[in-house]
Amino acid sequence: MNPKLGLGFVLLLLLCYSVESKCRKGCDLALASYYVWRDANLTFIAEVMQSSILKSSDFDTILRYNPQLPSKDSLSSFIRINIPFPCECIEGQFLGHFFNFNVRSQNTYTDVAYTYYANLTTIPSLVYFNNYSEFNIPDNGKLNVSVNCSCGDSSVSKDYGLFMTYPLQPNDTLESIANQTNVTQELLQRYNVGFNFSRETGVVYIPTKDTDGSYRPLKSSTGIAVGAIAGICIAAVAVVLLLAVLIYVGFYRNKKEKGAILLSASPQLSPQILHVTGSNSNRPVNATESQGRTGITVDKSVEFSYEELAKATDDFSLANKIGEGGFGTVYYAELRGEKAAIKKMDVQDSKEFFAELKVLTHVHHLNLVRLIGYCVEGSLFVVYEYIENGNLSQHLRGSGKDPLTWSTRVQIALDSARGLEYIHEHTVPVYIHRDIKSANILIDKNFRGKVADFGLTKLTKVGSPSLLTRLVGTFGYMSPEYAQYGDVSPKLDVFAFGVVLYELISAKEAIVKANDSSAESRGLIALFEDVLNQPDPGEDLRKLVDPRLGEDYPLDSVQKVAQLAKACTHENPQVRPSMRSIVVALMTLSSSTEDWDVGSFYENQALVNLMSGR
Ligand SMILES: *[C@@H]1O[C@H](CO)[C@@H](O)[C@H](O)[C@H]1NC(C)=O
Ligand SMILES: *[C@@H]1O[C@H](CO)[C@@H](O)[C@H](O)[C@H]1NC(C)=O
Ligand SMILES: *[C@@H]1O[C@H](CO)[C@@H](O)[C@H](O)[C@H]1NC(C)=O
Ligand SMILES: *[C@@H]1O[C@H](CO)[C@@H](O)[C@H](O)[C@H]1NC(C)=O
Ligand SMILES: *[C@@H]1O[C@H](CO)[C@@H](O)[C@H](O)[C@H]1NC(C)=O
Ligand SMILES: *[C@@H]1O[C@H](CO)[C@@H](O)[C@H](O)[C@H]1NC(C)=O
Ligand SMILES: *[C@@H]1O[C@H](CO)[C@@H](O)[C@H](O)[C@H]1NC(C)=O
Ligand SMILES: *[C@@H]1O[C@H](CO)[C@@H](O)[C@H](O)[C@H]1NC(C)=O
Ligand SMILES: *[C@@H]1O[C@H](CO)[C@@H](O)[C@H](O)[C@H]1NC(C)=O
Repeated sequence: MNPKLGLGFVLLLLLCYSVESKCRKGCDLALASYYVWRDANLTFIAEVMQSSILKSSDFDTILRYNPQLPSKDSLSSFIRINIPFPCECIEGQFLGHFFNFNVRSQNTYTDVAYTYYANLTTIPSLVYFNNYSEFNIPDNGKLNVSVNCSCGDSSVSKDYGLFMTYPLQPNDTLESIANQTNVTQELLQRYNVGFNFSRETGVVYIPTKDTDGSYRPLKSSTGIAVGAIAGICIAAVAVVLLLAVLIYVGFYRNKKEKGAILLSASPQLSPQILHVTGSNSNRPVNATESQGRTGITVDKSVEFSYEELAKATDDFSLANKIGEGGFGTVYYAELRGEKAAIKKMDVQDSKEFFAELKVLTHVHHLNLVRLIGYCVEGSLFVVYEYIENGNLSQHLRGSGKDPLTWSTRVQIALDSARGLEYIHEHTVPVYIHRDIKSANILIDKNFRGKVADFGLTKLTKVGSPSLLTRLVGTFGYMSPEYAQYGDVSPKLDVFAFGVVLYELISAKEAIVKANDSSAESRGLIALFEDVLNQPDPGEDLRKLVDPRLGEDYPLDSVQKVAQLAKACTHENPQVRPSMRSIVVALMTLSSSTEDWDVGSFYENQALVNLMSGR
């Protein structure tokens, strides 16, 4: 690619990313839930919380938003009161408002955040927006105090347009807040995606009634503005790409599809799909990534019509069928110009699915196959991002694939461990995959691993009573406590992950079929344990290593992975390590394995790691 054009494209992507991923417009009102600490009085509160809406000593305004307070002198401590303030889009980065705080002598950022602003702001944000050193705040100085806010989210509901910024108190829980605010737990969680309400700190956003006692609907104008700009941005990217495609048709052959995605995405963007971000929502798009992937993906849950899915899969034709899993049949689709995988689930639709799917579409992680959307007409369909490079099982045992090098295997192990750690520890609700196996670990074109199909077990369970008692999971990967008693815990994924580690070493199936027909088949675990239980497994372990690796592996590293796999597949679930410790172990191993490898792919990989700060 012409370097200038390439740079231009990357800059444009970055620009679009920064424009798209953040706010564009605020709303005229939000409420701050101020926890009245001992000795606080309305004079003080009205003074520190003054804004264009609330003037200093304007108690009437405060009373209007707090009908429970009969008069300005009746304020008691340890209750919450609502303070109105304008919610602005700050520097295009987030929704919030800056209050001005006049420093009194000896104030610290801690006083200001914890006490005067009742945890509506945070110490890091005070440090960030004020250039005074933490220990040298001048008396009579002014501080910028940012308080975040929300204006609603059209993808969650159009019924709510007024939100309370609510700092959690130690005894608050999702349940108690739902109870007090008369908002369902589900809705609260959807407005605070990924937030752990048991954390006891941090702010959450709660839909709130206006002074007239009714909810304010979401103003639609915000949405339209966002959509228009998203459209312009995509169109601009499309034009640049079109140029690139026209000029470099030959060179660009295999990237042409990428252009097509963007070009066709622009006219078809429906008003529902307003928010466009980089493909990894947690990190800015960097140059390496934007070449390696589409760079722009639609980041809102999308409900598709059956008609659209049927069209995208050629009426679910056999030719488009790319797999059959425990939960249904998978079809390749070209949907709104993007490649996608559509799974037709073997279950009927239901309200629960819908709620669950909405949550699932919000779970984003680089190492999880992304759920783009769904369709609940007739059957249940789930739409995933399409991962180019097949699954791990195919790479280990399929014909026509180059053998994976040892360091790629360690990387794929680490990637899948990260994906699992994420669903075990960082999503709300947490998920247990229950069907980890090499066929469920997909490999992208950069040879990074992505865990597929998480969350589906939950849907199956919810939807179909006949499946309730059925064990999900795959023979050879199933932990003993699950197989015998149906005990479900994250440790059953750890067990299955251990089997995958053995597969990465040996390229053998989880159940090894004996060569001669008389001998019975054996589990991979038993095969390895025989060797690992020897005092010095070194040489016998070599015999289990995938012959396609030749001599190109450090035995030491293989041995460590085997030991890790052994720990993961321990019979007692309590003794198995957590996914988090597995990630740490593999990270250590992966950094020492990297030095060991040579070759252009790894130079490239090292660069990727460098660029992404790993
Ligand atoms: C209100 O509270 C502030 C800060 O705690 C205090 O300085 C002030 O004297 C109080 N005013 C009244 C009227 O109680
Ligand atoms: C703010 O948070 C801190 C630390 O969690 C806590 O000690 C303090 O009491 C909180 N302040 C208020 C007003 O709730
Ligand atoms: C406000 O939101 C931004 C962006 O999510 C976050 O970085 C910041 O810490 C938040 N500030 C406060 C005071 O909660
Ligand atoms: C407050 O924040 C604004 C916007 O970031 C900045 O322009 C201003 O200089 C800040 N004021 C102080 C006192 O740091
Ligand atoms: C803070 O920033 C202002 C304006 O940018 C500057 O005049 C002032 O000296 C800075 N103060 C400190 C303590 O760095
Ligand atoms: C929710 O509120 C009801 C009454 O309004 C009460 O009986 C119940 O105990 C509350 N539940 C929780 C978890 O606070
Ligand atoms: C939390 O504690 C405060 C007093 O410390 C009490 O007023 C409030 O009702 C408690 N909330 C819950 C949900 O228990
Ligand atoms: C809570 O909501 C229900 C239905 O939305 C309503 O009937 C009830 O009166 C509400 N309760 C309060 C205390 O607002
Ligand atoms: C939420 O936080 C609590 C307390 O820190 C912790 O016990 C719980 O596991 C967390 N839940 C999730 C889903 O991370």
